[in-house]
Amino acid sequence: MSTSTLPVVVVTGAASGIGRGIALRLAQDYQVVLVDLNPTTLPNVEKEINDAGGLAFKSLGDVGKRDTHHRARALAEEKGLLAAWVNCAGWTRGAPLHDFPNDPAVLEELISANQIGTFWGCAEAVNAFVSKKTKGAIVNISSVHGRRAWPDHAVYEMTKAAVDALTRNVAVAYGPFGIRCNAVAPGAIMTPALAQSFIDAPDARERRQSLELLTPLKRIGEPSEIAEVVAFLLSEKASYVSGQSVGAEGGWTSALGVPAIDARLAEQYGLDPATGLPQD
Ligand SMILES: NC(=O)c1ccc[n+]([C@@H]2O[C@H](COP(=O)([O-])OP(=O)(O)OC[C@H]3O[C@@H](n4cnc5c(N)ncnc54)[C@H](O)[C@@H]3O)[C@@H](O)[C@H]2O)c1
Repeated sequence: MSTSTLPVVVVTGAASGIGRGIALRLAQDYQVVLVDLNPTTLPNVEKEINDAGGLAFKSLGDVGKRDTHHRARALAEEKGLLAAWVNCAGWTRGAPLHDFPNDPAVLEELISANQIGTFWGCAEAVNAFVSKKTKGAIVNISSVHGRRAWPDHAVYEMTKAAVDALTRNVAVAYGPFGIRCNAVAPGAIMTPALAQSFIDAPDARERRQSLELLTPLKRIGEPSEIAEVVAFLLSEKASYVSGQSVGAEGGWTSALGVPAIDARLAEQYGLDPATGLPQD
């Protein structure tokens, strides 16, 4: 057992993007076990947290494998009281259903990381909580794609809808024992994965602007904005919140489309009256 009295949280997908942002934020309140399959970037996040005075411990592994979660839990329990678990590891790759490739990377491996990974994470977390008779909290990272559709994203959307369903199941089954489980459904968040999707697009600027336009707040979010919602949901401040998939998406899924912006207001705010985006 480490000398710290801080509780412990496990964060998967912690080596990059939203997972890294969550790990950095939660290091203010917890010792953090960082899970990821990237052996190059994972130690960087561990060092970043430890250099800033936090307590982080890396655990390398693929979340699609149950053993990865066993090992993360064992490390967490060695350090202190395992009180929280965040399943964030995931990715997407689009492909059209009518011309779907015979490539396990776009079906089985995607389901393994996003869906099976979250499943084993929840199973390990609730097993850890009930075996110690502790209340605990879980947050799963879902997506706007769990509730809305976009062409070529069928597999990703199945996995994220499954994450929302699993979240409700855990909340209902373990609520009587004080265990809470929620999801956060981000919209477009600026991470290495999103940046890469811009690079891969025919026109990076156009691709970025199309996402900004779709979002009522007219901008792409930051990992820290997701991390704050996760920190809240794990905390006692959210003691009566369970089974929810909380959107953190700039209002995206509330819109019926992309409405015209009030030109006079846009002018007053110094925005492009045609798009509502900041003027170049
Ligand atoms: N960035 C967005 O706009 C956005 C929007 C909605 C939801 N999300 C979700 O947020 C999560 C993080 O996405 P991101 O944009 O930060 O991506 P990212 O690529 O920057 O980070 C994902 C991390 O997960 C790790 N990972 C992937 N598969 C893994 C596996 N099988 N086992 C262990 N680690 C694995 C990667 O190595 C990487 O470090 C994902 O679940 C994604 O679906 C992202």
